[in-house]
Amino acid sequence: MIVLGIETSCDETAAAVVRDGRETLSSIILSQVELHRPYGGVVPEIASRQHSEMLPGVIDRAMHDAGVGWAQIDAVAATYGPGLASSLMVGLSTAKGLAMRLEKPLIAINHLQAHIYSPFMSPEAPTPAVVGPFVALVISGGHTCLVQCAALGEYRLLGETIDDAAGEAFDKGANLLGLGYPGGPLMDKIGRTGNPKAIMFPRGRVRSPRDVGAGLQPELCFSYSGVKTALLYYLRDNPLAAGDPRLPDVVASYQEAIVDTVIDRCERAMETMSTLCVGGGVSLNSRLRLKLQDLAHRRGLRLLLAKPVFCADNAAMIAGLAGMGGGLTGQHAFGTDVVPALPVCANWV
Ligand code: KG4
Ligand code: ZN
Repeated sequence: MIVLGIETSCDETAAAVVRDGRETLSSIILSQVELHRPYGGVVPEIASRQHSEMLPGVIDRAMHDAGVGWAQIDAVAATYGPGLASSLMVGLSTAKGLAMRLEKPLIAINHLQAHIYSPFMSPEAPTPAVVGPFVALVISGGHTCLVQCAALGEYRLLGETIDDAAGEAFDKGANLLGLGYPGGPLMDKIGRTGNPKAIMFPRGRVRSPRDVGAGLQPELCFSYSGVKTALLYYLRDNPLAAGDPRLPDVVASYQEAIVDTVIDRCERAMETMSTLCVGGGVSLNSRLRLKLQDLAHRRGLRLLLAKPVFCADNAAMIAGLAGMGGGLTGQHAFGTDVVPALPVCANWV
C-alpha cells in the first residue's frame, strides 16, 4: 500500500510517500523557521499563508522523488490535529480534494499518534507487532507526554505536562539567554561544552492529583514553568555579559534540569514495561538521547529512538501510520474537520 502523507500542523510544510507503513520513498520538509524567527515564535497567519503557497510544490516534489505516478497512490493521509487551526486546514482540505480527485481513500491522522509511531519508521526497527506493549514518550515544542500502548492503536495517556512542553522550556530558556529562535538546537550545541552540575536548577515535580487530568498519575506528569522562572532569577542575580565564558555552564545546567525530569518520569513509567519508544523534536537532543540510552542500559530496557529525520515534524510518520492502519477512514475521515486541541487518545479511567 503506497500512501501520500501531508503534514501542516505547525510551521513545517511536509509531504511524503511511504510504502507499507515503513519504506519511505520520499520525504520533503519545508521549514518556515526563517519567516518566524524575527517574531521569536510561530505566527499562525504567516504559517497558514505559507502552507497554502508551498504545499502544492512540496507534494509535487514528494511524488517526483518517490518516482511514483498518481495512479500508484493507494491512499492520501493528512494530519487533522492537534495543531494550529488555520495551518491544519490547509493540509487536510488539500488531502480531501486530492483523495476525491484520485477516487482513493482519505486517512485523517492524529499528529501525536504519528510521533508515537515515528521510531518504527526506521527500516531496521522491529515492527510494533514484534515489540508488543510499549511506553511512548512524545517530547516536542507543543507536547510532552507519556503514553502506554497495548498495541499500535490502543493508547492510554499516563502523564503529560501541566504547563510548558519541554521544547517550549528550551526555547524560552534560550530566549532569556539572548540566544536565537528556535532555542532547542542551540542549547544542545552550547550545552555540550558546559558543566551540567555547575548550577542546580529545580527539577519540576507535580505532586497533587488535583493538578493533573482525570486518571493521570502526578508522578508521571511534567512541569517546566519553575525551571524557566529559576533561570530568570538566576540571570537577574548573575547577569551574563556578551560572550560570557559562564554561558555553556548555565546552558548545560538548565538542559540537565529538563532532561533529568524526563528520565525520572520515563523510569517510573517503565516499572512494569520493557520497551520505550521516543519521538518528537526534543528527542533530537543529544544529552537526552545519551541519558535515555543510559537508562535503558541500567534497567535492561529496549529503547527505540526515532531516527533524526523522523524526530521533528515530518509527513513520513503521517503516511507511515496511515499505512499501518492508524487514523480515521471512510466517512469519518471525509467528515472530520480539523481538531486543534485533539488529545493523543480518549483515556478510559
Ligand atoms: O516536533 P517538533 O518539530 O514540533 C512540534 O510538534 O512541536 O519540535 C520542535 C521543538 C522546538 O521546541 C525545538 O526547540 C525542539 O523541538 N528541539 C530541540 C532540539 N531540536 C529541536 N530541543 C532540544 N535539543 C535539540 N537538539
Ligand atoms: Zn510534532
